[in-house]
Amino acid sequence: MACRICSGRLHPFADFGSQPLSDAFVTPGDPGAEFFFHLAVGLCESCSMVQLLEEVPRERMFHAGYPYLSSGSSVMREHFQSLAKRLLTTELAGPDPFVVELGCNDGTMLSVIADAGVRHLGVEPSGGVADLAAARGVRVRKDFFEAGTAASVLAADGPADVVYAANTLCHIPYLDSIMEGLDTLLRPEGVFVFEDPYLGDIVQRASFDQIYDEHFYFFTATSVRGLARRHGFELVDVERLPVHGGEVRYTLARRDARSPSPAVAALLAAEEAAALTEPATLHRFAARVADTRERLVRLLTDLRDQGARVYGYGATAKSATVLNYCGLGPDLITFVSDTTPAKQGRLTPGSHIPVLGPEAFADPYPDYAVLFAWNHAEEIMAKETAFGRAGGTWILYVPEVQLV
Ligand code: SAM
Ligand code: TMP
Ligand code: ZN
Repeated sequence: MACRICSGRLHPFADFGSQPLSDAFVTPGDPGAEFFFHLAVGLCESCSMVQLLEEVPRERMFHAGYPYLSSGSSVMREHFQSLAKRLLTTELAGPDPFVVELGCNDGTMLSVIADAGVRHLGVEPSGGVADLAAARGVRVRKDFFEAGTAASVLAADGPADVVYAANTLCHIPYLDSIMEGLDTLLRPEGVFVFEDPYLGDIVQRASFDQIYDEHFYFFTATSVRGLARRHGFELVDVERLPVHGGEVRYTLARRDARSPSPAVAALLAAEEAAALTEPATLHRFAARVADTRERLVRLLTDLRDQGARVYGYGATAKSATVLNYCGLGPDLITFVSDTTPAKQGRLTPGSHIPVLGPEAFADPYPDYAVLFAWNHAEEIMAKETAFGRAGGTWILYVPEVQLV
């Protein structure tokens, strides 16, 4: 197996077996066969990029029925609003600025830019969410971003001051084409800003459920700097973010256009000191994951045998890995509650647990709820205090199996 970035040798370190597509919710009674692939992760021995070993064709994941909505969390709405406001007063403060967002989804970030009257374009291949963005006044192109798209955006709109991508770059295996597109589209002094789950947080918290079909890469400052340099760019800033269980926001600029901030050297040094991409560290991570599976299965089996009522909270893409890797089904978790309209009334991929709207969660409350949307724990626990008052207990499995 060869690295998708540099063709170096991949060192596999965690294997989750056969898995369904994480966002392919099943219609009850639909005889259509589900698509499965082999979910396993490896480390490139040359460039240190951590990546999936098997690539799922992009059209199977990102299409008109893609269900995920950026606006599903109030914390994320505020997060994108504050990022948009910051860009407007910094990178986009010059004359007639232009910003492009890759994977703009339902327009949660770009609608702030549109409301400010600033030139923008969202590039979003999933038609359903792109339509939601357009309905909010966002200019969207229904397309996958890659080198060819960049050339046609440049021809139509001219160069961009900023290209931004949240939780999207790590979804894209073909980064050589993306980097070529950025080189085409960005002004000489333009920047590429992107944020994705951070391998440092995944390893520290043993948050193995960040590993699923759509998350192809697990970035570090070290691997991102290497990627940037291969394409004439430099990593000039990094910022740790608390959202989605721990992310890093990376800023790339053309080589020699800007000097790197001290935060870059600090994060590179921290990664080195933690031996983050040493095989031994990643094998320890895999051992913790196996332990989590054993404890979670034992807990849920005991609860079922005791006659406890157990629901799931948040039919996240992440939960597909937990449910299928641990072999959890409707015998252990009656249903999963989720606010996303396109997930409700359907079954979780592979594990076939019904997904119901949030009103079902309180009717009546369960004895236990597995918090699959643990990355939104603060927001969810703040609004679900009645569950605790009714005697309910949360089950968490990151960083380890615990009752709260
Ligand atoms: N940026 C939003 C956020 O952070 O909430 C949405 C993230 S969602 C997990 C990933 C998005 O990337 C999807 O809407 C998907 O359609 C889009 N996407 C996947 N491949 C892409 C590509 N090559 N170019 C642009 N968008 C892409
Ligand atoms: P995410 O972890 O990928 O952002 O997905 C979160 C999922 O959890 C998404 O399907 C929406 C759902 N959700 C709820 O059902 N209730 C909530 O309060 C929040 C914040 C999310
Ligand atoms: Zn490599």
